[in-house]
Amino acid sequence: MDMQRIPARDGDHNLQNYEKARENFSWDDVKKNFSWNETGKVNIAYEAIDRHAADPNKKDKVALLYSAPGREEKMTFDEISKQSNQFANVLKKYDIEKGDRVFLFLPRSPEFYVTFFGILKTGAIAGPLFEAFMEQAVRDRLQDSEAKMLITTPELLERVPQEDLPDLEKIVLVGDHNETSGKYIDFASEMKDASTDFDIEWVDLEDGMVIHYTSGSTGKPKGVYHVHNAMIQHYATAEWVIDLKEDDVYWCTADPGWVTGTSYGVFAPWLHGVTNVIRGGRFTPDDWYETIDKHNVTVWYTAPTALRKLVSAGEDVVRKYDFSSLRHVMSVGEPLNPEVITWGLKAFDLRIHDTWWMTETGAMLIVNYPSLEIRPGSMGKPIPGIDASIVDNEGNELPPNQMGNLAIREGWPSMMRKIWKRPEKFESYFINGWYVSGDSAYKDEDGYFWFQGRLDDVINTSGERVGPFEVESKLIEHPAVAEAGVIGKPDPERGEIIKAFITLNDGYEDSPELLEEIRVFIKTGLAAHAAPREIEVKDTIPKTRSGKIMRRLLKSWELGLPTGDTSTLEE
Ligand code: WTA
Repeated sequence: MDMQRIPARDGDHNLQNYEKARENFSWDDVKKNFSWNETGKVNIAYEAIDRHAADPNKKDKVALLYSAPGREEKMTFDEISKQSNQFANVLKKYDIEKGDRVFLFLPRSPEFYVTFFGILKTGAIAGPLFEAFMEQAVRDRLQDSEAKMLITTPELLERVPQEDLPDLEKIVLVGDHNETSGKYIDFASEMKDASTDFDIEWVDLEDGMVIHYTSGSTGKPKGVYHVHNAMIQHYATAEWVIDLKEDDVYWCTADPGWVTGTSYGVFAPWLHGVTNVIRGGRFTPDDWYETIDKHNVTVWYTAPTALRKLVSAGEDVVRKYDFSSLRHVMSVGEPLNPEVITWGLKAFDLRIHDTWWMTETGAMLIVNYPSLEIRPGSMGKPIPGIDASIVDNEGNELPPNQMGNLAIREGWPSMMRKIWKRPEKFESYFINGWYVSGDSAYKDEDGYFWFQGRLDDVINTSGERVGPFEVESKLIEHPAVAEAGVIGKPDPERGEIIKAFITLNDGYEDSPELLEEIRVFIKTGLAAHAAPREIEVKDTIPKTRSGKIMRRLLKSWELGLPTGDTSTLEE
């Protein structure tokens, strides 16, 4: 049975007629919103920042409304434009050129946004790293991308294994430090001396812009490579889905170390010249509510895991704050529970709009729109210009209500253009002209898509994507661990938690202290969100005859499900 459908909200939405927008659609029409339509050359930094800074009516508008414990700051488009010019000059001084990889390992702070756009202005490719990454995660990404420069803080520098990074020529340090070697560049003093004028590097639509590392079920994290062309889709979805208007105050809660934090935490609002709220640090439910209240946030893009925390924090907290500014709420990253939608109607008197997309897709693809009814539990319908379907393993389309691979006809503007240095990995996503997502879903008779689950072993914990292989590899580095198999275990608040099964080396005994030590080993060596919440010691880990860990079998055991075909199981 369908839960009650929630009718479209009244109002003048940017996408008033969904069906009509899909008919005769052309991405070329969207391109006309940008100045490069005439020159043929582009730079997303120009479209998102400098274009507004050059507009007398926009230049002094607040672009960034930043707050974190102990720090509040406002920056106008003009200020970001000038400071990112300064940083671009610093990069040029140290020989950064178009196509070089420059990585950022910074907390969510104004400096992130200034240096990020500085990188893009030189035509270099920006690689943002999540601030919670520990040494192994940092090493994997900087090694694979052959990053030439890194921007970080003296505190985070401790997690950068420089001896393993031969390509890393320079490190920009943001904050007080005592480093004297020529390898380090002091952010503050270089910025002081740098000119606020910079000749932006005009690039082609297909030139590299950002690399985001993400996890699959096997192998190390892979570098998903996006090009400047993606801005067309960032711009369009900001209009149709985020429904942005000139005077909005927009808040996206995602960290720029993940794709949501760049595509929708940076590009989408600023391509439209809208004021963007950034909150640093970790948040409690009170912080979330206070941010909306204090800054009069009108449009809010967040994640189910956060919303579930707010639900469990209860109604008393809700009543302490004023949400009258809020007019539009969206969610991404995990299935949005129908109960959360029901709660949203009560707490904010607003619908929560689910959106579906992936690091690889670069921007939203299947979503709920203000002007369409919501069917709670459904991700909604494809955006104009996108052909989505359910296909079998050979890439043949399946009829309505049949479960299969959620797939997108290849070739949309924000689609990844490669997996860094791994062409065979990139190719493996495509079958018969379809990009196959790895998610299973079905489509109902009316064209609404319903998410069912992941088809591979990728874990989604609190909306963060974790590859079991990375965790397993780190686990076996611990002297006590002989073998490891890692799965996602369903959890009401986090979606999934990470559960590890291990076997112990001779001389080690199963004890709560040892398991805690192993957990902390992952937390401090890889990342807190990748640390298993549960670890169980086994006599053996099930493997195929070719030595692959049978995670599916571990999962079936854990959940008490039938074990299915085990004919490939090793003796
Ligand atoms: C999952 C985040 C259900 C899905 C932008 C996808 C979702 C993976 C939804 C991508 C949704 C994302 N409903 N599941 N609305 N949105 N997912 O790369 O499994 O971090 O494949 O991108 O998250 O995660 P990623």
